[in-house]
Amino acid sequence: MEHRKDKGKDNENPTGEGRLAGKIAVVTGAGSGIGRAAAVLMSRQGARVVVADYDERGARETAELVVAAGGRALPVTVDVTDEGSVAAMVDAAVGEYGALHVLCNHVGGTDLRKDLDLLRMYMDKFGRTVDRNVRSTLWGARYAVPHMIRAGGGSIINTASVAALVGDVLQTSYDAVKAAVVSITKSIAVQYGPQNVRCNAIAPGAVMTPGLKQNLPVDVIDSLKRGNALAVPGHSEGHRTYHDVPRLRRVPLSDRPTPGRGRRHDHAVLRRAGTARHASRVAGAEGR
Ligand SMILES: NC(=O)c1ccc[n+]([C@@H]2O[C@H](COP(=O)([O-])OP(=O)(O)OC[C@H]3O[C@@H](n4cnc5c(N)ncnc54)[C@H](O)[C@@H]3O)[C@@H](O)[C@H]2O)c1
Repeated sequence: MEHRKDKGKDNENPTGEGRLAGKIAVVTGAGSGIGRAAAVLMSRQGARVVVADYDERGARETAELVVAAGGRALPVTVDVTDEGSVAAMVDAAVGEYGALHVLCNHVGGTDLRKDLDLLRMYMDKFGRTVDRNVRSTLWGARYAVPHMIRAGGGSIINTASVAALVGDVLQTSYDAVKAAVVSITKSIAVQYGPQNVRCNAIAPGAVMTPGLKQNLPVDVIDSLKRGNALAVPGHSEGHRTYHDVPRLRRVPLSDRPTPGRGRRHDHAVLRRAGTARHASRVAGAEGR
């Protein structure tokens, strides 16, 4: 299973240093949580990183973490729901570093207090959830792909969720938009795979990021902990932390081609972390 495979690789080379040497990566939502962990990890692996977030201070702090660890980072303030702002983010990356090879479309989420079951969900908030998760994914890819083709190839990593794959008693909007992210991922992979631009999505389970902690009542956090069957050794709370999630990007980030590339479903490897229930199914899909 994925988790075990990762662990084995960690033993050989804990940071995967050098794997991304010479690559330029843009990470959106990198001002905190999973995005911050991804930016730091990619830098340790040799990439020059554009740390993009609408929280200017968060972006600056992440960039400082990268630089303090010996890497190179450019903090950029962006609103990924705004086309012009996304275009400016990509321009800033290419202007500073001369190319773009990796885009991590990270920003997403929902208002968990208003995204409820079908009858109680706040319909007027649905458009905002689409903007945050779907439009942001599309804008990022639209502006990044031409630069990746110019660079001879690249990798886009979108952030879906377990919510895209299973039914849920709440967060009806979030389930829908994350399913859309999966679908967009497959289309981009099929459309630009021939030009060596890969597109994959990760689908984490509950990850205790600052955003999630702020958003969730304590009893829901407790129920999430119980629901996450795949406990991570070393994490006593029994769920993944945001430092674990970026490791799932190893296959998408590798320059090594996915076996069977060119076939529709092999491009969009869905990586699901969080519960054991679906891990075997996903492992089976990857083997196809
Ligand atoms: N935390 C989880 O349990 C979990 C589970 C599955 C999937 N995900 C997905 O992972 C991604 C990151 O989640 P997280 O928990 O790290 O989130 P978070 O709320 O902790 O961090 C999100 C970051 O994005 C930034 N941001 C928000 N809106 C933005 C915008 N319009 N433009 C630019 N930056 C913006 C925020 O300032 C913040 O730094 C999301 O797509 C989320 O749906 C999270």
